[in-house]
Amino acid sequence: MTGVAAPDEDVNRLITFEGVTKRYPDGTVALDDVSLECPTGQITVFVGTSGGGKTTALRTINRMVEPTGGRVLIDGQDVRERKPAELRRGIGYVIQHAGLFPHRTIEDNIATVPYLLRWNKKKARDTARQLMERVGLDAGMAKRYPFQLSGGQQQRVGVARALAADPPIMLMDEPFSAVDPVVRAELQDEFLRLQDELHKTIVFVTHDIDEAIKLGDRIAVFRTGGELVQVAAPEDLLAHPADDFVAGFVGQNRGIRSLSFADTAELSLRDDLVRPVTAAPADTAGLDWVLVVDEARHPLGWVRGPEVTGPLADAALAPVGGTFQVGADSVRGALDAAVLSPAGLAVGVDGGGAVVGVTGGAELLAVPTHGEHHRRPGKEHPVDTAGADSASAVRDGASD
Ligand SMILES: Nc1ncnc2c1ncn2[C@@H]1O[C@H](COP(=O)(O)OP(=O)(O)OP(=O)(O)O)[C@@H](O)[C@H]1O
Ligand SMILES: [Mg+2]
Repeated sequence: MTGVAAPDEDVNRLITFEGVTKRYPDGTVALDDVSLECPTGQITVFVGTSGGGKTTALRTINRMVEPTGGRVLIDGQDVRERKPAELRRGIGYVIQHAGLFPHRTIEDNIATVPYLLRWNKKKARDTARQLMERVGLDAGMAKRYPFQLSGGQQQRVGVARALAADPPIMLMDEPFSAVDPVVRAELQDEFLRLQDELHKTIVFVTHDIDEAIKLGDRIAVFRTGGELVQVAAPEDLLAHPADDFVAGFVGQNRGIRSLSFADTAELSLRDDLVRPVTAAPADTAGLDWVLVVDEARHPLGWVRGPEVTGPLADAALAPVGGTFQVGADSVRGALDAAVLSPAGLAVGVDGGGAVVGVTGGAELLAVPTHGEHHRRPGKEHPVDTAGADSASAVRDGASD
């Protein structure tokens, strides 16, 4: 086993919450009659107010928390019918700050669960090395200790460790919260890329609504008192928040954010403002702005039609601004390109960087943000995740 096996089509891995309640002895209701499905092979994100019950809900899945009412099922089986240690071996667990063992090397941290499963040492370490490569860690780090790694690198180790026994389910509790925004974005991108290969059933807790929208196939919003307020795909959450609480939570920028789900393949692009650099000057007459392209149709820059007095090759060109890849980038990306462009027009290119056409203004905003069967442009090349931590699940289990 390498931690990278193809998804097993026979295993369902669906997580179901049925009326789950957690009431602590002091009267605190951490979860209040929560019913929810976390679909197989998808990322379900829990967001909401601090103390809203997200971590509690996550931990009922691997029995680190036992509900006082209702039940949690995996593939239709009540998790209470499974022994905690055995259950947790199939559930990777990643936490903030990675939770690595400080006195163990990186490769031995990653191989924690394989060692527990009594794999031979060579196989366990080979798996650890493969996983290091997979999460973007240099092999030279294998013999280092956690304190010799950056925060972002430690989170990668945490993810690798959670993946080591190839669990079908991953629970991730704010795995990227402790690193700076740039590193966080990298970790998120790699997480989506990894998930695109591995198709784990993932439950991911975050405070960050942007992270939830970027990573989630579905988003579950919790509020104080352990109430599940809404479960929806990100684009639906932005377009149709269930109430004022959710609307407030997704923020004032939800209009702009929702453009992330609008597909640039649906834009009609203008070709009539594009001219090859070899075109005759007269060819630009009557046009306010002209986009000049080279022989391969790669964009060179913008020029105002009336300012063209000689060959386009000699014209002083204003910078292109930004480009967007048609069908791959979202309308939000196209809007960004338009704002950066001196002409106020976004330049759409194909996968090879050749200009398809330009567009701007009202045309950009006319694209529907969720047609039927629409997929988020970003989701076609999903990203990677954060540190999972079967080890700490096993460890915590021992003290349960
Ligand atoms: N052992 C406990 N005894 C009593 N109350 C508890 C216990 N553990 C958690 N709680 C309470 O349960 C509620 C839910 O806590 P939980 O950790 O699930 O929230 P959360 O949504 O993960 O919050 P955060 O975003 O701050 O991590 C909180 O009010 C918390 O104080
Ligand atoms: Mg929490």
